[in-house]
Amino acid sequence: MLDAVSASAAVDADWLLGAATGQSAAQRRAHPEQPLAEPAWRRYQGLLQRRYRGEPVAYLLGRCGFMDFELVVTPAVLIPRPETEHLVEAALESPAARVLELGTGSGCIAIALGRAWPNARIDATDQSAEALTVANQNAALLGVDNLRLRQGDWYEPVGTARYDLIVSNPPYIGPAEPEPDQGDARFEPRAALRADESGLAALRIIIEGAAAHLEDAGRLWVEHGHTQGPAVREYLAAQGFEAIETRRDLAGHERISGGRRGAQRHE
Ligand SMILES: C[S@@+](CC[C@H](N)C(=O)[O-])C[C@H]1O[C@@H](n2cnc3c(N)ncnc32)[C@H](O)[C@@H]1O
Repeated sequence: MLDAVSASAAVDADWLLGAATGQSAAQRRAHPEQPLAEPAWRRYQGLLQRRYRGEPVAYLLGRCGFMDFELVVTPAVLIPRPETEHLVEAALESPAARVLELGTGSGCIAIALGRAWPNARIDATDQSAEALTVANQNAALLGVDNLRLRQGDWYEPVGTARYDLIVSNPPYIGPAEPEPDQGDARFEPRAALRADESGLAALRIIIEGAAAHLEDAGRLWVEHGHTQGPAVREYLAAQGFEAIETRRDLAGHERISGGRRGAQRHE
């Protein structure tokens, strides 16, 4: 029945069976003769029904993988996407002592950077208090203690602080685009997905604010929609960024762009 709503029905069912029984696939395979106990069977049927109604597997399990670690996820946060791992990899190419992530959601990006750079100081902001509760829980579970979470609008919570690296995966789906109203995305927070100005509003604000929050030669990396590369490069150029580049995701789509703050723009 899951085939009708999921392209990965068999895998989904296996994950949900694991959640219902508390056993790994290997444990279940090792004892195929063991019947499913009635309570586990009922839990499994309940999870299958919810999946059939469209709830994402990650929300049903309450967790998902990102990079080489696992995160708690709830409907208060975007489910981290594999594309965002490219953003983390690009950010990690140039070591940074002070880092700012804007729109941290589950905390996936900030936590990945905090784990890779335990001596760096990572600040991360989000407007959603509920999302920051999840990010805080993830940082604690993963033992990341160099991350400071702040609630507010983009740069507002960090005042005039400057960073060596700013990174963001902001909402970038335009009001007219249908994706957030389809499939699993229907269950994700609107504020994590949609942005005005054909999806470019948050990217524009973040790029326009970056120079005032970057040290000389500091770097900015942003994730964006696959048609938004030209507009993002234009915003970066208009703010005096140098070494502007765009990278593609595994599907070959332009997905992340970044640049280095020119030293001449110091105020
Ligand atoms: C696309 S999600 C990214 C979440 C996470 N960083 C990731 O990559 O999975 C965008 C995040 O930006 C946050 N956000 C939206 N508008 C914001 C604003 N004006 N100020 C701060 N954060 C905002 C949302 O709450 C959401 O958590």
